[in-house]
Amino acid sequence: MNSRAVNVAIVGTGVIGAGWATHFLAQGFAVTATDPADGAEARLREWIDGNWPAVERLGLADGASRQNLTFTADVGAAVRHADFIQESGPERLDIKHALIANIEASAKADAIIASSSSGLSVSEMQAGARHPERIVLGHPFNPSHIIPLVEVGGGRLTAPDNVAKAMAFYAATGKKPIRIDKEVKGHIANRLQVALWQEAISLVQRGVASVEAIDAAIAYGPGLRWALLGPFLNLHASGGSGGVTHLLQHLGPAQREWAKDLGTYPASDDYIETIAKGVDAELAPYDFPEMLRQRDELLIQLLDAKRNLSQIP
Ligand SMILES: NC(=O)c1ccc[n+]([C@@H]2O[C@H](COP(=O)([O-])OP(=O)(O)OC[C@H]3O[C@@H](n4cnc5c(N)ncnc54)[C@H](O)[C@@H]3O)[C@@H](O)[C@H]2O)c1
Repeated sequence: MNSRAVNVAIVGTGVIGAGWATHFLAQGFAVTATDPADGAEARLREWIDGNWPAVERLGLADGASRQNLTFTADVGAAVRHADFIQESGPERLDIKHALIANIEASAKADAIIASSSSGLSVSEMQAGARHPERIVLGHPFNPSHIIPLVEVGGGRLTAPDNVAKAMAFYAATGKKPIRIDKEVKGHIANRLQVALWQEAISLVQRGVASVEAIDAAIAYGPGLRWALLGPFLNLHASGGSGGVTHLLQHLGPAQREWAKDLGTYPASDDYIETIAKGVDAELAPYDFPEMLRQRDELLIQLLDAKRNLSQIP
């Protein structure tokens, strides 16, 4: 697949589909989008307009234009000429099956179908498909026109070559694809987040610290390093000349003891009110929409700065 001459179809234009549409338009591709909801086209165009300044800052490819977007309510028409189909419909297996059947009825036999699904496995989604070998996972992170990570993997019936093609395609569009070698619930990055959220909720429940203090512990502490190097390289860096081996030999036994004391997700929803009150208290002095705008602005500055550093992965 020559990534510069790719026709992309976006199936489902909610929050994630709109982010993908923005990203692929910014890459200079012709994008055809489809969504059956009333007012979907107007909403999509408005979202893309809102997202466009961000992708302009990240850098537009030659020929990139919002004019290259076509919208149709007909899934078949949307996917007919597509080489790469990014499915971002509702997160329900029955809907994914119906969508895949509709897509396959019109798509080229060798078009890749990548699902954005956060939690469904490709093996579940490809069951009953005519060409299950071309169905892959392409799981993005919100805001998907800015965050580079895409988790890519196949199911039991996916051809490994198609996973490799999807990885190469995303990489050629400036994304940072990572390959999932074995299907697990929730993929990778969300499992890592859940591990952290689980303990953060538990610390609040146990009265160890406030919601605000725990947010600060990450945002002003390890979170700053995690945006630059991942957990393992940061461990390695903390080990001095002995690196990760020394660090794990030295602090591993204590970490294993702390691990025995970690919390688990509460069995009922009772904790939600406590967390929500803590978030409200933390947000009281701020304007949340403006906070998100400034967060996205900083994200763009960070991504831009990272691009110029040759030794940051
Ligand atoms: N929201 C996130 O943070 C996030 C992050 C990564 C992945 N995802 C995944 O992306 C997918 C979409 O999530 P979302 O948050 O954008 O949801 P959303 O509810 O914002 O959008 C879903 C869209 O699908 C449309 N739709 C319904 N039936 C359809 C059909 N038959 N054909 C085409 N479109 C149809 C809806 O009208 C809606 O616009 C889900 O699989 C979700 O797990 C979401």
